[in-house]
Amino acid sequence: MFGGKSLFGSVKVSGSKNGSLPVMAATLLFNSPVFLSNVPYLLDVDTMAKIISSLGGRVEFKGNSQVLIDPSNVSSYEPPLEPVIAMRASFLVAGALLARFGKAKVALPGGCAIGSRPVDIHLKGFEMLGAKRSIEHGFVNLECEKLKGANIYLPYPSVGATENLIMASVFAEGMTVIDNAAKEPEIVGLSDFLNLCGAKIKGAGSRTIEIEGVRSLHSIDNYTIIPDRIEAGTLMLAGAITKGDIFLEKISCDFLESVIEKMTEAGIEVLPEKNGIRVRCKSRPKPVTIKTSPHPGFPTDMQAQFMALLSVGDGTSVITEMVFENRYLHAEELNRLGADIRIDGRTAVVVGVDHLSGAPVRALDLRAGAALVIAGLVAEGETRVFGLSHLNRGYENLEFKLKNLGASISKEVLS
Ligand code: UD1
Repeated sequence: MFGGKSLFGSVKVSGSKNGSLPVMAATLLFNSPVFLSNVPYLLDVDTMAKIISSLGGRVEFKGNSQVLIDPSNVSSYEPPLEPVIAMRASFLVAGALLARFGKAKVALPGGCAIGSRPVDIHLKGFEMLGAKRSIEHGFVNLECEKLKGANIYLPYPSVGATENLIMASVFAEGMTVIDNAAKEPEIVGLSDFLNLCGAKIKGAGSRTIEIEGVRSLHSIDNYTIIPDRIEAGTLMLAGAITKGDIFLEKISCDFLESVIEKMTEAGIEVLPEKNGIRVRCKSRPKPVTIKTSPHPGFPTDMQAQFMALLSVGDGTSVITEMVFENRYLHAEELNRLGADIRIDGRTAVVVGVDHLSGAPVRALDLRAGAALVIAGLVAEGETRVFGLSHLNRGYENLEFKLKNLGASISKEVLS
């Protein structure tokens, strides 16, 4: 890619990756086909589809972001090792399989580049619902006679644990209360989907979620996945860093308050309009202070992209990463482009520079890759981003969308 072109025009935000994965996992609770729309076609979505197929389900991508999942013939509670260790969110099938079969055998997802990412909170919750668990040869074995509703307090509002426990308790006898639950919009999406199909879940989006067990779920004609707030935020910053003027279709500001607050502080104009958001920026971003935290705080999934923006800011910014212990893999790569970023533990000090210069860089995780693409949009000369597989995990047609907005980018250089 060659930096220096301002982005202009309109871009459509895809369906949410993190919204699709739990809903896809939740289809394992059904005995009839489920039709989903606005599902982005991504590597992670494909991985989840492979897991469902390997368990005996049928997954058909219909084109136009529609997916039909028929879980009627799911007969196994043991997903294969490979897709599970390839993607941490695969562990989301554990709750649904436990609810359906009273059993699940799922590989421990293990660590990943951005941190150790244990599943202790998920497992403790399953135990409180009455499951016995053991860990042998790298697999978690869960087993129960009948799951029973319980009061579960999460020591940390883990997104995945909240989703897994919602799925596990949908058929549990009596009432389950999850306290200190995650409040992310994707949790609301999962609960809305399950409620439309007959579940009784109250309070999603707040710290306390109540689930009254039901006997079965029924299909609905269609469930539309919520828009991807992280893709939207990424595109907004791409527009802003290039001093462009772009319009994001199919997204509201509701999902993005904390990111928009920081963009506004940085001097970027974010204008809510009918059916979308307009983003304009005319000058170098002003420095800001950012601390990531669970929703509604500033999302860790936007930290890397904001760091790219602030690397060309007019002053010194400070970022503190509070969710993952090792999520600064992009900092050294941004420095290769001429940024001035110093990391000390969980804190990053970003001294804004007046220009970046293109270089070969490596995407070491998904959002780190997005940050490098954003930086490459303004770096003088050519930037080659290696590690395309990370970007493909979470962004649908990113290079196409940026190209349509006027960026000089092609997949060949995103290798
Ligand atoms: C989800 C998102 C991911 C996002 C993250 C935080 C999906 C598919 N992924 O990941 O994009 O970055 O939320 O917003 O939705 N933790 C434990 N024990 C546990 C579970 C989590 O210690 O049992 C810790 C993790 O190590 C991490 C923190 O809690 O430090 C947040 O993790 P969690 O909220 O569970 O994130 P994920 O669900 O994995």
